[in-house]
Amino acid sequence: MSGPLNENPVKFSSKLTTILVAAGCSVGLGNIWRFPYITGEGGGAAFVIIYLLCIIFIGHPVMISEFALGRATHRSAVGAYKALGGRKWSWLGYNGVLTAFIIMGFYYVVAGWTAEYLVVSVSGELSKYSEVSEYKELFNGFVSHPWKPVLYTWLFIFVNHLVIHMGVAKGLERVSKVLMPMLFVILIVLAVNSLLLPNSWEGLVFFLKPDFSKLSPEVVLMAVGQAFFSLSIGLGALIAYGSYIPKGADLRKTATQVTILDTSVAFISGLIIFPAAASVGIDPGAGPALVFQTLPAIFNMLPWSMLWSSVFFLLLVIAALTSTMSLHEVVTVYLMEEWGLPRRIGTYVTSISVALLSAVASLSLGVGSGFTIFGLTLFDAMDYLTANLMLPIGGLCTCIFVGWWLERKIFEDQITNFGELKRGDLSLMTFLIRYICPITLFAMFLDNLGFLG
Ligand code: TRP
Repeated sequence: MSGPLNENPVKFSSKLTTILVAAGCSVGLGNIWRFPYITGEGGGAAFVIIYLLCIIFIGHPVMISEFALGRATHRSAVGAYKALGGRKWSWLGYNGVLTAFIIMGFYYVVAGWTAEYLVVSVSGELSKYSEVSEYKELFNGFVSHPWKPVLYTWLFIFVNHLVIHMGVAKGLERVSKVLMPMLFVILIVLAVNSLLLPNSWEGLVFFLKPDFSKLSPEVVLMAVGQAFFSLSIGLGALIAYGSYIPKGADLRKTATQVTILDTSVAFISGLIIFPAAASVGIDPGAGPALVFQTLPAIFNMLPWSMLWSSVFFLLLVIAALTSTMSLHEVVTVYLMEEWGLPRRIGTYVTSISVALLSAVASLSLGVGSGFTIFGLTLFDAMDYLTANLMLPIGGLCTCIFVGWWLERKIFEDQITNFGELKRGDLSLMTFLIRYICPITLFAMFLDNLGFLG
């Protein structure tokens, strides 16, 4: 493979490429599918405020930390922790590999749904329906079908595998430069359209007018989990990206730009989904189905609905592709470095094992829905475990590592480019990484376990 995630000393060719590739990794189904559904379950605006606070005070410093670890070591997660912390920190890298693997297990399933929706958009089937009940039936019929969703999931994995295997990742990178802005424009058009719908006001109030009585320890944990998931932090995926960031690039600025891009895409998705859901009468707490049941209703109100939905789902598939590539890479590089497999074989092993896991996750929503873990289907359990527990725990340990273990100078040299850039808010950032992030994350866990009353 000759993609952006190749072995060093490959570097991103420019600062713009760096931002776009990192944004391609961050912006994905997490923004357009997961953010609205989690916000809906979390009760709306109050959740969004906690989410934004988590992004600014926890997510952003953790992203900078991951970038710095990568650029300081020129390695990916396991290698970086080993190089800087010795063998006793390597488990943090392994935890990241496991997390990436489980995330892929359900992420590919949702990516499969987007592929399915792309197909029914292009075939014209989607624009045949007009009632909300029909959209609901369509979605429920899809996900519970005995083999169709598995087939689409595998189709997506297959395409993903080909992109990686044929080394067209560089091409995808180039294509992303055009597609990402296109996605952005389409999202804005859809948001305006949603806001003009009758009764959209109600959805807007849900999304933007906080009702703090809806907050609970669980909702706060969901917010931090979503922040980690959306920014692609907590498992070391961005450590690998950091190792490709050129020497002269400003890590703080890069992280800020990626964070702003990622957060605006999520926010605009909220502006699309909640007004539309209110308008057509879909419950914002509908769970993972929310976006898939709401979007067709919006498309159907536009002229040339088939064209809109086809282009939209195509872009969504591509956004999912650029995100899954980063997850796939984490596992593949681990197999290469730790098991000594050649890249080609590592890529196969990753794709095949993830294909099996995601098939099981997909079936857990249909034929296997009788089997639950703590009342959750396997699909939901994988989502919950990774986003709400494994990523924040990974982030907590990253902060402890960077803030307390790592020699201060190594971090500061990366942030200031060996003294070239001003220190600026460096002390504030160190303070966040040493105290605020770990203490807040720890408190959130305790709170959820019921220790803080
Ligand atoms: N952030 C991506 C999204 O929002 C998902 C993702 C890609 C991810 N790479 C990751 C999440 C690494 C956590 C860690 O869709």
